[in-house]
Amino acid sequence: METDVLDLARPELRSIIPYTPGVYEPGLIRMNANESPYRSSGDDTKRGLNRYPPPRPYALRACLASHYNIHEEEMLITRGSSEAIDVLIRAFCIAGKDSIVISPPTFDMYRLYAEIQNVKVIEIPLLRNESLSADFTLDTQMVINQINAGTKIVFICSPNNPTGGSTARKDIVKVCNAARGRALVVLDEAYQEFSAQEELRSLQEINDHVVSLRTLSKFVSLAGVRCGAVIGAKKLISFLENVLPPYTFPTPSIELVLKALDEDSMSVSKEKTCSILRERSRLKDELLKFSIVEKVWPSDANFLLVSTSNRERFVMAAKNGGILVRIFDNHESIKNCVRITIGSKNDNDQLLQALSNEFTKIPNKRQEK
Ligand SMILES: Cc1ncc(COP(=O)(O)O)c(C=O)c1O
Repeated sequence: METDVLDLARPELRSIIPYTPGVYEPGLIRMNANESPYRSSGDDTKRGLNRYPPPRPYALRACLASHYNIHEEEMLITRGSSEAIDVLIRAFCIAGKDSIVISPPTFDMYRLYAEIQNVKVIEIPLLRNESLSADFTLDTQMVINQINAGTKIVFICSPNNPTGGSTARKDIVKVCNAARGRALVVLDEAYQEFSAQEELRSLQEINDHVVSLRTLSKFVSLAGVRCGAVIGAKKLISFLENVLPPYTFPTPSIELVLKALDEDSMSVSKEKTCSILRERSRLKDELLKFSIVEKVWPSDANFLLVSTSNRERFVMAAKNGGILVRIFDNHESIKNCVRITIGSKNDNDQLLQALSNEFTKIPNKRQEK
């Protein structure tokens, strides 16, 4: 039976009356938006910061859509993919009634935004395995069981933060099939560009209830402009446009991203990514030589998850050498671990030097695959 993804959304939002913004026509004086007629000092934007940004950054969307090779109407630009998580939960989950499924250890913002909306968070932990390449994998059957029990959104983070691995496409397909007509599947591909796995977009082409989240915070080196996107079916995106408030995406971010996405800058981003991938492999090999390092999981992202025999000593040694690494206190399965973002060659050398100052290296040390 044909199902409509919007039947899963909060019913009262389906008929919400969208905000009507004051029109903007280049060449006409704008006395319709209660803005200042004067530019502020230091304002070197094209549009002028005295003017509101466009209600929706459609020029930017056109450019990003062509970058991702999709139709413009299949994309909603958000302030980072974090805002995309928020808007999806608000649009689909009824407070105090609905639930989402997440598979920890994973990105903690799914939980946070759900709790802000008073939505229940059901945790289906990633499966553990002796073999590192099969460790921290999706518990597909348990996730599917939960969908049958009335969950509204399933989040699958692939490559996953903080474990670094990708979910097998066949498992994602199983979840998507089970969720059709019952739940929205959100594929968070924040780290896709660092992965050897292909993009998950084709899953959306056949499934209206599947969306993917992308971000410019990692690959395009633009975490500071806060640009992310939801990619999904046209009718779903047009529904989300009514839920996300207008004017949220600032003019400097629009202009900066447009500049960054021109062709030269994209090839620069690709070169930087290649260098991060090379450094990821080198850093992993070097880290494994230290006695304090027990395991380094395979990574499809711009970071490594490293298990240590003494997390506090590792963190302190890094800090003494001027480096901050990330720890996770709310996940039992990774409590001895640190997550290390791949830096520049110099950053990585500095970390390795800091570790050499404190820890011995074991010649010919190997880890299980
Ligand atoms: C898996 C994942 N998704 C989404 C985000 C949010 O990224 P942003 O809001 O910068 O686009 C992050 C940030 O680290 C992340 O790790």
